[in-house]
Amino acid sequence: MCGIIGIVGSRPVAPRILEGLERLEYRGYDSAGMATVSGDGIGLRRTAGRVETLKRLVAGSPLSGQLGIGHTRWATHGKVTLCNTHPHVVGQIAVVHNGIIENFEELRRTLEPRNLRYRSQTDSEIVAHLLYLELLDDPDPERAMRSVLERLQGAFSLVIMNADQPDMLMVARRSSPLVAGFGEDEMFVGSDARALVHLTRRLVYLEDGDWAVVRRESIELHDASHRPVERAVRHSEVQDEKPDPGEFPHFMAKEIHEQPEAVTYTLHRYVEPAGGELKFPEFPFDARDVPRMSIVAAGTSYYAGMVARYWFERLARLSIDVDIASEFRYRDPVLAPGGAVLAISQSGESIDTLMALREARAGGQHVLSLVNMAESTIERESDVTLHTAAGPEYSVASTKAFTTQLVVLACLAVSWGLQRGTLEAAEASVALDALARVRAGLAGILADTGCWDECVGQLARARDIIYLGRGSNYPIALEGALKLKEITYIHAEGFGAGEMKHGPIALIEPGTPVVVVAPHDKWFDKTASNVAEARSRGARIALISDRTGIEKLAGAATWTLPLPDSHALTAPILATAHVQMLAYRTAVTLGTDVDRPKNLAKTVTVE
Ligand code: M6R
Repeated sequence: MCGIIGIVGSRPVAPRILEGLERLEYRGYDSAGMATVSGDGIGLRRTAGRVETLKRLVAGSPLSGQLGIGHTRWATHGKVTLCNTHPHVVGQIAVVHNGIIENFEELRRTLEPRNLRYRSQTDSEIVAHLLYLELLDDPDPERAMRSVLERLQGAFSLVIMNADQPDMLMVARRSSPLVAGFGEDEMFVGSDARALVHLTRRLVYLEDGDWAVVRRESIELHDASHRPVERAVRHSEVQDEKPDPGEFPHFMAKEIHEQPEAVTYTLHRYVEPAGGELKFPEFPFDARDVPRMSIVAAGTSYYAGMVARYWFERLARLSIDVDIASEFRYRDPVLAPGGAVLAISQSGESIDTLMALREARAGGQHVLSLVNMAESTIERESDVTLHTAAGPEYSVASTKAFTTQLVVLACLAVSWGLQRGTLEAAEASVALDALARVRAGLAGILADTGCWDECVGQLARARDIIYLGRGSNYPIALEGALKLKEITYIHAEGFGAGEMKHGPIALIEPGTPVVVVAPHDKWFDKTASNVAEARSRGARIALISDRTGIEKLAGAATWTLPLPDSHALTAPILATAHVQMLAYRTAVTLGTDVDRPKNLAKTVTVE
């Protein structure tokens, strides 16, 4: 979380820093700030608001200078206030930071005798003080930087400006990402490629523990042991796209409606459209030999992993563990020799997922990943990466990333099923045909604009909403509940339908909405019984099902949300469109900030 940018320029930097911040705002939008160095010293502009407000502030009170840094904040330590907004300035030093300095309180205690004046409650400000003090004792900036880095614990990417040295930036990265870019007699640094590709495509990704002195024409990199190192300069292929919701009122609506296209592009990456052959990159193991695979992910990507478990187990008879990445890392998992880990992440930057991946690698696992954002850290640290072709996703609530993840996972399960001899060619071909029809299925669901109206009116008034599903639709219930709570702030929980009677049914009161994801599949009759149990306690049922399912439960459902007749592999993908639309429409009814819900950020790079 938090987006950072810095420019050592040969022309004014302020407008370009603001543009970079606009592109980084998905990392955090609690507050925004920037600083430049000019003949008058450090000029600072900050707001406890959005980048838009910062832009107005800078327009009214311009900043000159050819050296500058900027920051969009997702608050960790210290409330969302002006004084907690970055950059933090101490004397001639200005710092922007992404991550958490875990020992900042201890450092503050050790510095007590110096009677320092702290202006914020952040963990970040300590870095500016430490560097300032080091430079008092020894004016050599590199030695000072080294000594500060040795005292910091935690995860960070740092960009530091020194008004006494207006020709350079000092930068460092530990766990949190940082990339540098080469311009014409200028250098740029930023949290990710998206912040820089409009400025340059010649990028160098800092590795964990690296720090550097960045000047207009050069970058001097050092590794964690302070040895000079070279890192490859690469031509970035990351799409240069200015966020624009186009004709849609929100990015979330745009991204939901992009799904028919996005799933098709993704499908065609892995299945030859003409002949239907599956095409995957070479894996570092033979699918026939892999004993087990652990899937690690967070949030919506975790639910994609949960759906995939049903598919890998059924089609490829492969033993699968699915873990929330932040739990996997610390639970000392028993990993099978020769096993694989699959990290799923839209951003490719979620630190929990990255750390789980590193844990698995240390445990001798083959490392695979499934990411949407090319060139992300998770991709760079994987043996093999599969990409979704969803295009950039800006809304905090993930939508098209999820459905495209499901498409790739379905194809992989089919491919491994064939390779492991657990899936007949005829069954595989039926599954791939069904996947090819997802585009039309999603388009049909999204075209039926009226089907959510009545139900949404009730959801918007509810205190609690329950989502139920079984089998591969159980994770869709979880996803529906997550989507709804993150953008409407209404309490929603997803359960395996059979689990209801073991406790959650106590939540049902007359009128409680229960959204049931129940295509007419092998679990349908069992789910129908759970629907009856909820109904008899006064629940109002929103039923997501196909023609047969709707007919069978006609008497029990208050609202019906139709699915086309589909294959077991594709029903969860299609049902997702309904739970997304329910959440989106409810949020719009309530007037929440759909794309930037409170307390959240698009990319989560703190543990
Ligand atoms: O970028 P990732 O897929 O690794 O992100 C994982 C979660 O942070 C993300 O899915 C989050 O739960 C979304 N806000 C869900 O809509």
